[in-house]
Formats: sequence, C-alpha cells, structure tokens
Amino acid sequence: MIVSGLSLKTFAILVGSAAVLRAVEFCLDLRRLLRSINYLPGYRTVFSSTTVLGSLLPRMPLLALGRDHSWRLKHAPFAERGLDIISAVSFWPKPMGNMFIADVQAIKDIVWSRGLFQKPLSQYAALKVLGGNIVASEGDEWKRYHKVVARAFSERNNRLVWNATTQVILELFDTAWIGKDEVVVDHAVDLTLPIGLFVIGAAGFGRHISWKDDAVIPPGHQLTFKDALLTTSHDLFIKLLVPRWAMGFTKRFRRARLEFDELRRYLTEMIQERKGFQLKEDDKDLFSSLLAANDDENLMKDEVKLNDSELIGNMFTLMIDETIAHSLAFALALLALYTDKQEELYQHIKRVLPDGRIPTYDDMPSLSYSSAVFNEALRMFPPVTNVPKLSAENTTFTITDVNGTQKTVSVPEGITLTLAVPALHYNPKYWEDPHTFKPERFLGDWNRDAFLPFSGGYRVCVGRKFSETEGAAVLTMLFSQYTVSIKDEPQFAGESFEQRKARVLDAKSILTLAPTRLPLVFRRRT
Ligand code: HEM
Ligand SMILES: *[C@@H]1O[C@H](CO)[C@@H](O)[C@H](O)[C@H]1NC(C)=O
Ligand SMILES: *[C@@H]1O[C@H](CO)[C@@H](O)[C@H](O)[C@H]1NC(C)=O
Ligand SMILES: *[C@@H]1O[C@H](CO)[C@@H](O)[C@H](O)[C@H]1NC(C)=O
Ligand SMILES: *[C@@H]1O[C@H](CO)[C@@H](O)[C@H](O)[C@H]1NC(C)=O
Repeated sequence: MIVSGLSLKTFAILVGSAAVLRAVEFCLDLRRLLRSINYLPGYRTVFSSTTVLGSLLPRMPLLALGRDHSWRLKHAPFAERGLDIISAVSFWPKPMGNMFIADVQAIKDIVWSRGLFQKPLSQYAALKVLGGNIVASEGDEWKRYHKVVARAFSERNNRLVWNATTQVILELFDTAWIGKDEVVVDHAVDLTLPIGLFVIGAAGFGRHISWKDDAVIPPGHQLTFKDALLTTSHDLFIKLLVPRWAMGFTKRFRRARLEFDELRRYLTEMIQERKGFQLKEDDKDLFSSLLAANDDENLMKDEVKLNDSELIGNMFTLMIDETIAHSLAFALALLALYTDKQEELYQHIKRVLPDGRIPTYDDMPSLSYSSAVFNEALRMFPPVTNVPKLSAENTTFTITDVNGTQKTVSVPEGITLTLAVPALHYNPKYWEDPHTFKPERFLGDWNRDAFLPFSGGYRVCVGRKFSETEGAAVLTMLFSQYTVSIKDEPQFAGESFEQRKARVLDAKSILTLAPTRLPLVFRRRT
C-alpha cells in the first residue's frame, strides 16, 4: 500500500493526471520547437539520427531515418521539398530538432564561424580512446593541438607522401605482383587499405613496411607494428562502439583490445625513443615533426606542451585513414566501369611521362587527370557523409528555394546542424549531371564551396593535401602499368551494365562510407 487510506480510484486519478501533464508538456515542447524552426519542412520520426541509438537503427518508416539515409537519399529529400535546408524533428525521449544543410552559403557561414557553430563534442567522445586529440576537441584545447599537428603536415611531408607512395606501389609490382600478367583482387579494399597503411607507416612514422610477410615480432610485443596498424584501422568501429567492460566478451573484441594496447605500446616506445631529439633534415615524417613542434620553445612559448597521452591521442587520429583507402577503391571501380575514362587517364599519364619514368612530387600539378579522378570519386562517394555542428545562438540563414524565392530559415540556439555532404555533392544547382562520373569537371572551373569531402573552414581536414597527394600518386602509378576491370563471375553473367554498376558501387556507411564488395582484375599493359 502506498499511503494507507489512499483509494485505488485516487491513485488512478493521480497516475492519469501525471500522464496527461506529461503529454501536455510534450505537446508544448514540440510546438515550441516547431515554432522555433518556423515549421521548416522535413523528416518527422520517433528516434533522432543524432543520438547513438538513432544512428545505429536501420531505416524504419516513422521510427528512424536509418544510419545510411544521408548517403542513400542524397539530394532527393531536398529536391522533393524545393529547399536546400530541411529539418528533422524527432520525439523520443523528448522533441529534438536537427537541420540538414545542402546550401553553399549556409555551409560557408557555418564552417567559417569560430564560436557560433562548434562541434557537438558528445558525438566525438568515443574518439578519445587513446587520449585527447584535435578531432574531438574545441576552443583552446583544439588550438593547442592544432598548432602542433598542423605544423607536421608541411610541404616537406607532402613530398615524402608522394615518394613513399610511389615506393609502395613499385614494391607491390616487384614483390606481390611480380611475374603475373593478371592479378585478381577479390575486394578492392584488400589492396587499397595496405597501400594506405604502408604510406602512413613511412610518411607518418618513418617506418618502412613491406608487402612481404617477413616482419619479426619485437620483444615485449604480441603483434608486429604492421599488424597493429593494419587491424586497428579495420577494427576501430569495435573500439568505438563497444564499451570498455565488454571488450573481453568475444574473441573479436579481445583481438581488437589487444591491437589497441599494442598500438599504444608502440607509440609510447616511439615517443620515448625520440625524447629530446633534434629534427634532422631527412626526418619529414608526421610523428617526428609533431614531436619537434611540441619541443619547439618558440612555437610553444605561450602554451603548455602536449603530454604523452595527448601526443598519442593526436598521433592516433592520423591513423584513421580508411578514408583514403575507400575513396581509392571507389575510384578504381569507376575507372573499371567507365573504360573510356580509364583510357583517357592512361593517355594523360603517357603525355606527362612519355619516357615512362617514375613521377615525382613536382609532376603532381601536371598529372591533373589523376587528381580529377580522385576528386570525382570523393564527390560521388564522400567517405564522411555527415559533419555535425551545434548552433550556439538564435540565428538565421537565407536560402533561395526552387522557385527562386528568398526564404529565411530560423536557427534556434542548441539545435544540431548537419552538413549533408552527399546532398551537397549531388545538388544539381552546383553540379551538372551530378549522378554521372565526369572527372573532367575538376579540370576546368568548379565550385570549390560545393565540394566538402574534407569538411571546410577552420576545422577542415588537416590531412587533405596528404590524401590528395597519395590519391594522385596511387592512380598514376597503377594506371601507368596496369588496366583494371570488374572481375567476371559466373553468378553475374547475365547482368546489364546498370545492374553491374549498382552491384559493385554498392556502399554502406559505418564509420565512413565503404564499398560492400568490389572484385577487380588488374592486367599488365604490354
Ligand atoms: C580521403 C581522405 C580523407 C577524408 C575524406 C577526410 C575527411 C575529413 C573530414 C570530413 C574531417 C572533419 C571531421 C569533423 O568535422 O568531424 C576531417 C578532419 C581531420 N582529418 Fe581527415 N580525411 C581524410 C584523410 C585524412 C588523413 C590521411 C589524415 C591524417 C594523416 C587526416 C587527419 C584529419 C585530422 C587530424 C582531422 C581533424 C582536423 C581538426 O579538427 O582540426 N585525414 N577529415
Ligand atoms: C514552388 O512553386 C510551386 C508552384 O507554384 C508550389 O507548388 C511549390 O510549393 C513551391 N515550392 C516552394 C518550396 O515554395
Ligand atoms: C625518395 O625515395 C628514395 C628511395 O627511398 C630516396 O632515395 C630519395 O632520397 C627520396 N626522395 C625524397 C625527396 O625524399
Ligand atoms: C595530459 O593532459 C590532459 C589534459 O589535456 C590530462 O587530462 C591528462 O591527465 C594528462 N595526462 C598525463 C599522463 O599527464
Ligand atoms: C532564443 O530564442 C528563444 C525563443 O525564441 C528565447 O527564449 C531565447 O532566450 C533566445 N536565446 C538567446 C541567446 O537570445
């Protein structure tokens, strides 16, 4: 009995009125929210895609947008409503608002404002697994990290990236692919991921990693550096999604935990080894430059130096480089499907390097078609499909709707804004024929502000030039000596070009957008 003398009837009335009050409160909150966004058209669902739960749920009409919605729908929901900013209102556990943005001017306002539109750090907490870092921070903390990290991404390092990439591909030709006129790769990422990791090994850590499986596990370790690096990036999502106390539950989780522990051990050792060392002319790798910048009294005179945990945290962010691997895989698929573009790339490379010599970093500006293919792959398959921000104040954006009428969009403080990268990249206002693979669009004049694979403004990817350099070098090296096609498989013998295209370009977004299954065949040019 709750209170003696309280009748069942009174109890029922109490519970009933609490529920009614709650419902009234909910309706008032909802009305306030809808008013604050001025009833901007958009999605209405029970769960929000910006919460952890909502981001994991598959698409369920009225319930959840589904984790891939931004990628799956691209610009269509915007076209349908005739607006380049649409809302997403969700109801559980309370009314919450989000705005998806595919308008160039609004995006410029957001990414170039320092205080008004910050990152929602709660969405980044998991990225701090190995320590505080540049990706998962804001304000003064970010400034300290950025100063040291941005120093490391120098022109010197870009040269090293180019050099390391050409070396990695030459070694691939001379070891794993030697003596074969035809090489079958069952999933393109099985090729592009090691390439990316070997390049980061050399240009990031000054360590040469070989295609041959000959590395010896050093004393005090259970994995080679190569395996720690290779698998960490592969199993990152486990580390991000599974709580620490559950990491012992399955073999896969325990393996992921071992990889992260091993990586932390390697990085700690590398920091110890290089404590107090002077940067030499031939140390251009990110890790050495980052440590040197942190030790530079002139650079860090007003700031507190980064401690070991922060150094490791920031180095760790440099390893999340699946993004390059995935975009290169898509670039290979597109070239395999569109053989005329592949031929054009080959002819372009031959014109720039008629004697077949190995290209250098100084050739990169001339190898514009390689860069254009990489950019077009990034436009069509942006690895990061949503870039979240928070609005710190009540503000407005002005957009032009489909009928050419100017509209004011009200942005209340506290609302989440999502830069909808695929919607922007497929917005016909900025890209002619957005669904068509046309690398040439990046040769002439193109709308820089409508290209957002690396985000933009102050928080633009610091690895942008690194990635562009690696991307252009890989494509140039591979296509100067090989052709690529989609592997013929008996079970797909009768499919049309469109069916084949849909099959091999199928992608899903877990942490970043990745091809689901992309079997390729490389043939040596004779
Ligand atoms: C094609 C390859 C890549 C793509 C598409 C890409 C994309 C992005 C995007 C969208 C952001 C902003 C994330 C956000 O706002 O939360 C970002 C930030 C960042 N990226 Fe990349 N990235 C790529 C390669 C790389 C590489 C190779 C490195 C390092 C070696 C790197 C290091 C970083 C860092 C440190 C940041 C944080 C910058 C800051 O917050 O100031 N990225 N990247
Ligand atoms: C554009 O004009 C059409 C026809 O008048 C109208 O039906 C539609 O709602 C308008 N779109 C917007 C976004 O105002
Ligand atoms: C490029 O790599 C080669 C072979 O490792 C090396 O001899 C050369 O000095 C490197 N060049 C630069 C600019 O780093
Ligand atoms: C490093 O600095 C951070 C603050 O940025 C602090 O939380 C952490 O405890 C420090 N770690 C060590 C090992 O001193
Ligand atoms: C933003 O607008 C809401 C309602 O329109 C108001 O209650 C709130 O005080 C405003 N916030 C600021 C910082 O002006």
